[in-house]
Amino acid sequence: MEVKKIFLPESELPRQWYNILADMPTPMEPPLHPGTGKPVGPEDLAPIFPMNLIEQEVSPQRFIDIPEDILKVYTIWRPTPMYRAYNLEKYLKTPAKIYFKNEGVSPAGSHKPNTAVAQAYFNKVAGTKKITTETGAGQWGSALSMACAFFGLECKVYMVKISFNQKPYRRLMMETWGANCVASPSTETKAGRSILAQNPDSPGSLGIAISEAVEAAVSGENTKYSLGSVLNHVMLHQTVNGLECQKQMAIAGDYPDVIIGCAGGGSNFAGCSFPFARDKINGKDIDIIAVEPASCPTMTRGPFAYDFGDTVQMTPLIPMHTLGHSFVPAPIHAGGLRYHGMAPTVSQLILDGVIRAEAIPQLETFQAGITFARTEGFISAPETNHAVAMVIREAAKAREEGKEKVILLNWSGHGLVDMAAYEAYLRGKLSDHALPEEEISRALNDIANLPKPKQYRAAKI
Ligand SMILES: Cc1ncc(COP(=O)(O)O)c(C=O)c1O
Repeated sequence: MEVKKIFLPESELPRQWYNILADMPTPMEPPLHPGTGKPVGPEDLAPIFPMNLIEQEVSPQRFIDIPEDILKVYTIWRPTPMYRAYNLEKYLKTPAKIYFKNEGVSPAGSHKPNTAVAQAYFNKVAGTKKITTETGAGQWGSALSMACAFFGLECKVYMVKISFNQKPYRRLMMETWGANCVASPSTETKAGRSILAQNPDSPGSLGIAISEAVEAAVSGENTKYSLGSVLNHVMLHQTVNGLECQKQMAIAGDYPDVIIGCAGGGSNFAGCSFPFARDKINGKDIDIIAVEPASCPTMTRGPFAYDFGDTVQMTPLIPMHTLGHSFVPAPIHAGGLRYHGMAPTVSQLILDGVIRAEAIPQLETFQAGITFARTEGFISAPETNHAVAMVIREAAKAREEGKEKVILLNWSGHGLVDMAAYEAYLRGKLSDHALPEEEISRALNDIANLPKPKQYRAAKI
């Protein structure tokens, strides 16, 4: 019988994370203090993050040990299984071999607990009592709520309003794990109130929710802020996944020609692909593709520029692909991909030609999700469907070229709490959102006078 699943025993759980900063082909440009325009130092970040995570953020060390207490929690769901998608291959009549790594088996349903548990642990060790955060679709907020429950920390989540209303069960998951979750923009913070004063019907965005969570952290006692993506230490924690993938591909006797992951802030994509990106930097030939929504085309249409991570301009300036901090994406169901920026490491690797980006419209992603569910069974999160759609495109290309490529899909999460989105699709109520050039130009006007990175690239609009 064909082998469907490749399991790793717990003894094979990676004991270290991989830090791509040690192998970047071009040195990263530093985050800047928005007031002085100077590179930010650890002390600038200290009101927001604990020092042990700030040290990881800037560490040049290639491998960083995973503490025993984190490994113990990881074993609840890790190592995660890798599958061969035989049924999908057959359906697509492709000579490609498709593997998918199932990060949806975590209790929260996605890859997000890989860093949530690490961040909660390091905060606990540093004496933090309460963590604030933002969440889009609720995957990150629920992951952090669970992690805070494990380490006895209070958790406050600002959830983007459109998702707060679309996905009530994620909110209830957060409450079940003991967190307090409010719709953002909220009236609880200055940032939220200022957005509501401009637009009382604002659907919210990740940029706005980040502003609220950062404000609540800096004004709260023993309170720190936690970000579910974008930052170097988040990418680092997620590499436990890619390191497992390398072992599983070796057991399968294959090596990926193509690696595909969806990208909101970049963390699940980075987690799966960075250990392989290291191989590529060292000479391997791999096509590594980050997939984003056509309605939020940060990597494919945004410039590489300095920008704020949040809407109300509280964070340092980060060198990244961005659509501008005031950009509010269309209310697509992939809430976790509605972010104006992209991880600096992912952005830099695009500039260096190590990875590339593609944008896919909403309807094609749901069509792909339905195909995946009807062949492989699993119902993907709307975010994950972007990667599934790209896999289907690549499998069709392999068929046309007659090539037996090996494709690795990072299946970042299940969609069992996202069925309202599937209902909208199945009832014909979903549409694609064209993004007019003027909209991008308008949002980019807001960053025109910010400092420019040395490697500045103009927007493709
Ligand atoms: C299932 C799933 N995949 C992907 C993402 C995108 O986030 P990131 O790019 O940080 O992995 C999210 C974000 O919420 C998500 O919930």
